[in-house]
Amino acid sequence: TPALPLSGQNVLVTAGGTREAIDPVRYISNRSSGKMGYAVAQAAREMGATVTLISTPTHLPVPAGVQMVTVNSAAELLTAVSARFSTTDLLVMAAAVSDYRPVNAADEKIKKPANHANLTIELTETPDILKTLAPQKTTQYVVGFAAETQHLLANAQRKLTSKKVDLLVANDVSKAGVGFNGDTNQVTLLRPGQDSVKTPLQSKLAVARTILETVVADQAWRH
Ligand code: PMT
Repeated sequence: TPALPLSGQNVLVTAGGTREAIDPVRYISNRSSGKMGYAVAQAAREMGATVTLISTPTHLPVPAGVQMVTVNSAAELLTAVSARFSTTDLLVMAAAVSDYRPVNAADEKIKKPANHANLTIELTETPDILKTLAPQKTTQYVVGFAAETQHLLANAQRKLTSKKVDLLVANDVSKAGVGFNGDTNQVTLLRPGQDSVKTPLQSKLAVARTILETVVADQAWRH
């Protein structure tokens, strides 16, 4: 029997929306369900890879044969990805990482003031995980995603370059059936110096397989 296309490769996948603490009982997050990242982890495992899935808490079943790591915040996700990056062959950043977090997470539950005054939470930027890891890249193939609501290709092209990824998966999350939460997605694949490829609307598992097949083809071209 021929070897599976990703056998022998360590694949690291991130999924879900990070949670940035406001106080012990509240956080800021986004609409990511984790489904896209879980589908990539499942597809990579089925293609023979050793797969680690780093996810924020979800209600999804863990794909068979996949090692799970649970994180909450962008900072925790950065620590978890960094710790594994040097032994990773392929990193797929499907997680929706918060760009901002509260400057101070309160130690105790924030109480309503008696005077009904507005409450202001000051936010500060989180670390950009892809940009942090880019200088540490040696042989890793890195896949980023871009969730956009306008100017999909222009914004995605900018992220492809600024985040120094090998492949950027752009989804227009303003369209029905695309991006957050559902079981389907429709994406455009961008690579440096190559024409973009638009995929049809299909299941997240089918999209995941297309992404990974594109990676495998690129890796073969490199060798
Ligand atoms: O989880 P689902 O409900 O299935 O939804 C899937 C999805 C819409 C979340 C997924 O398809 C997707 O688009 N994921 C990326 C969401 C996102 O954070 O996009 P972005 O354009 O803000 O970020 C671009 C890339 O940089 C992403 O690969 C992101 O993981 C990464 N990033 C972002 C911010 C940050 N501080 N560090 C990062 O590394």
